[in-house]
Amino acid sequence: MEPLASAIDPESPEFKARALAMAGLLADLDRDLTAARSDRSEKALARHREQGKLPASERLDRLLDANTPFLEVGALAAHGLYDGGVHKAGTFGGIGVISGRECVVSVNDAMVKGGTIYPMGVKKALRLQAIAMENHLPFVSLIDSGGAFLPLQSEVFPDADDGGRIFYNQAHMSRMGLPQITAVMGLCTAGAAYIPAMSDEVVHVRGTGAIFLAGPPLVKAATGEEVTSEDLGGAELHCSVSGVSDHYAEDDADAIRIVRELVANLPPPAASGADLASPRPPLYPPEELNGIVPAELAEPFDIREIIARITDDSAFLEFKPRYGATLVCGWARIHGYKVGILGNNGVLFSECAQKAAHFIQLCEKRRVPLLFLQNVPGFMVGREYERGGITKHGHQMVNAVATATVPKLTVIVGGSFGAGNYAMCGRAYGPRFLWTWPNARIGVMGAAQAAGVLISVANGQRARAGLPPLTTEEESWLRTPVLEGQAREGSAMYSTANLWDDGIIAPARTRDVLGLCLAVCARAPDPGFRSTFGTFRV
Ligand code: COA
Repeated sequence: MEPLASAIDPESPEFKARALAMAGLLADLDRDLTAARSDRSEKALARHREQGKLPASERLDRLLDANTPFLEVGALAAHGLYDGGVHKAGTFGGIGVISGRECVVSVNDAMVKGGTIYPMGVKKALRLQAIAMENHLPFVSLIDSGGAFLPLQSEVFPDADDGGRIFYNQAHMSRMGLPQITAVMGLCTAGAAYIPAMSDEVVHVRGTGAIFLAGPPLVKAATGEEVTSEDLGGAELHCSVSGVSDHYAEDDADAIRIVRELVANLPPPAASGADLASPRPPLYPPEELNGIVPAELAEPFDIREIIARITDDSAFLEFKPRYGATLVCGWARIHGYKVGILGNNGVLFSECAQKAAHFIQLCEKRRVPLLFLQNVPGFMVGREYERGGITKHGHQMVNAVATATVPKLTVIVGGSFGAGNYAMCGRAYGPRFLWTWPNARIGVMGAAQAAGVLISVANGQRARAGLPPLTTEEESWLRTPVLEGQAREGSAMYSTANLWDDGIIAPARTRDVLGLCLAVCARAPDPGFRSTFGTFRV
C-alpha cells in the first residue's frame, strides 16, 4: 500500500485562515464541554455534600481505571434544550475501562434536576444500550435519579421508544448474555426501580440509596402509611430482607470498589477476530486537519488529505480511482485495524453510487469494517441524470449501506445533505458510531435551496390564483426564517444536542476516536456474510 501524497502547504494564507476558523469553533466546543461537565448550582452541590454523596463526575472518574481513555457519548446531549441547564441530558455516558474491561457506563447526575429523566435522557439511555448490544459490552450503571421528569411525562413515558424501552432492552441484553451491574447510589423511584431490578447484580449504598415503586410522599397519599425512605427501600431492607439488592456498600467509594470487583469477576471477553497489524502513525500530522477543511462548505477540498492524516503510514489502496471520481473508495489501516473507506469529493453521480455498491460488497465479503467520511451535497439532479437512472443507482448504494453486516463508522467532516446523508451511512443506516466535526452541517438540503423551493411553491400557488409573483421584499420574508432556522438547526451543535450523533470531535482526535471505535467493534462476534449471491459488479 502506497502512502498518499499531500498538496497541503501549512504556510499558505488559505491554510492559516481555515485553521483560524477551526480554532474558533474548537474554543467554543471546549467551553461548552467544560460547562456540561462542571457547571452545577451551588444549591445542588451543597445538597450532595450534606448527603455525603460524590458528584457524578467524581463517581465516574473513580469507576474507571486510571489513565485509560473514556470514549464519551452524548457529552453535549440536550445542550441548549429545555432551560439550557440539562447538561449531558442528565447522565454521563460512554465506553470506559473498568478493571481492565471495556464497558458501557451510565452515571446519573443528581445535580441536574435531581437526576430526573428528560426526553433526551431517555434517548441517551437507549443509545448507550444500543452501543452495548451492538458491540457486546457489559453495562454498568450508577443510579441516582428522581425518575421521570414529571412536567414532560407524556414525552418520556408511553411510546415505543420511551422509558419502558429501557427495561425491555435490559431483558434482551440479559438474554444476549451481556452482564449488567448496577449501583444504587441515590433514589431509584418508580420506573427507575426497574433498572436495578432488571440487572444481574445490584450494589446498594447505605443511607442514600433507595429502591421503591413509590416514594414516601406517594405512599402517604395512597395508603396513609408514614415511612422513611430508608425503611421503605434502603440498603438494609433490600440486602437483608427483600433480597432485591445483592451487595451492601457503606458509602459511594465502597460501592464503586465493589462494582470494580464485580466487573473483574466477569468471564473474559471473546477473542477478537479482526484483521489487525502493528499500528503506525500517519506521515502527516493530524493537527493539520484544522487547516484543511474550509469554513464555507461551498469551497472544495480533497478528502484524501483527511485520509492521509488518519490512516497508518498515510497508506491508502484506492479502488477504481478513475471511475466515479467524486466518491473516493479504498482500503487502509487505522491504529492497525483494516478499514474500507468511502469519502466524498463532491456530489454523488450514478458512477459513484455503483462504485460504492461494488466496494461495499467486497468489504462485506472480506469482513472489513466500513468508514464513511461525509462531505456530501447530495445526489446529482437534472434531466440528464434522471434519464441515466440515478435513482436506481442510488438505490444500489443505499441498499448496500443499509444491509452491510460489517461494523460501519461515520464521521461528518463537512456537509451532510439530502439522500447523500443516507447513502453515506447517516444515523438511520445503523453506523455503530457517528461523530461530527465542529464545522459540520446537516439538512435535507442547503438553506438557500430550501428557501428557493418554498418561494417557487408560493409563486406556483399565486400563479394558479391569478396573482403576480412575490415581490423581492415578500421573498425575503419567506427566505429569512428558513435561513435562520437552518443556521441553527443545521449546525453540529444542534445535531449533537439532539443525539443525531455520538458527539462532536476535534479533527485532530479523529484517528484516535476511530481507533477506539474499531477496537470496540472488534469485540462483538462477527455475524458473517449471509448473502447467497456473488459480488455484483454493478
Ligand atoms: N420531576 C421534575 N422535577 C423533579 C423531580 C421530578 N420527578 N424530582 C425532583 N425534581 C426537581 C426538583 O423540583 C428540584 O428542582 P429545582 O432545583 O429547580 O428546585 C430538583 O429536581 C432537585 O430536587 P430536590 O428535591 O431539591 O433535591 P434532593 O436531592 O433533595 O432530592 C430527589 C432529589 C430526586 C430524591 C427528590 O426530589 C424526589 O424524591 N423527587 C421525586 C421522585 C419521584 O417520586 N419520582 C417519580 C417519578 S416516576
